[in-house]
Amino acid sequence: MTEPKFLNVGRKLPPTDAISDLPDWKQAQPAWINSALEHALAKPAGGWFVVDATRAIGDGPHGYRIDGEDYVVWRTADGIAVAPDSCPHMGARMSDGFVRDGCVVCPWHGLAIGTEGLGAWKPLTTFDDGVLLWLRSGKGEELTDEPILPARPNPYFDATMRLEAKCDPRDVIANRLDPWHGSHFHPHSFGNLRALEKTDSTVTVRVVYRMTKRVGMEVDAIFECPEPRTIVMTIIRGEGVGSVVETHATPIEPGRSAVIETTLATSDRPQFLPFMKMFARFVRPVIESRARRLWVEDGAYAERRYELRQAQ
Ligand code: FES
Ligand SMILES: [Fe+2]
Repeated sequence: MTEPKFLNVGRKLPPTDAISDLPDWKQAQPAWINSALEHALAKPAGGWFVVDATRAIGDGPHGYRIDGEDYVVWRTADGIAVAPDSCPHMGARMSDGFVRDGCVVCPWHGLAIGTEGLGAWKPLTTFDDGVLLWLRSGKGEELTDEPILPARPNPYFDATMRLEAKCDPRDVIANRLDPWHGSHFHPHSFGNLRALEKTDSTVTVRVVYRMTKRVGMEVDAIFECPEPRTIVMTIIRGEGVGSVVETHATPIEPGRSAVIETTLATSDRPQFLPFMKMFARFVRPVIESRARRLWVEDGAYAERRYELRQAQ
């Protein structure tokens, strides 16, 4: 099959050979994907889970279910607090209450609790990395002071989306360890994908990121997992070198996960970041809706993978 021709409006890349001329379905080897996934799963996570974009968290209270536990999330004068979503009096959901003077107020009898907690009811350790809110809870995991963050560009323009899928985090990560599906499963967004390099746990691709049917930007990007619930795509050649797309998979409960994906875009073109910031109100929703569209499709992929694993 001849590859479609694109007008590359990004930087011209040096010619390079793909690692294989085989069709994508032969290059996408389940054994390699599973083994790269096992490498990721063997890494420490430090007990940290991404809750959501910090920007998505208003005054609250908001309810989140993470790794089988319910939490209430609200804003205080010192930042964002996360605590069990069960009132220490009689168990009402605090996330159904309201926030007053930095305290979350129970909807049943009006008990107001701040970040000092009450008895055994205590806020958990959180971390705001500037874009994402993390919560440290990991049962049975060795805890670290901070989450294991991938390298990020500085400065950057960020956009984040969150959706849920009926699968486990490993299915989300496995989806991204299979870039070979890109131009087939998302033809509206990607074209001419070729794998350039593969190690035990990373894969580097050259791909056209499509802007219209025949116009796009060709980039080289590497996929790697800094920890077992995160996979990062970093642009290493072409337009926007250093930009990353971080995909975080947070377990909600067995068979249900949240996908929180943040794009941190950068460029050495001096007008790029001022432009993005000036038009953030318009640009951010466009980036988020493109990511969401991809994850509606990739969510279906991950859910199918989960179904197949359950049937084994
Ligand atoms: S259940 Fe919360 S104050 Fe009574
Ligand atoms: Fe995909």
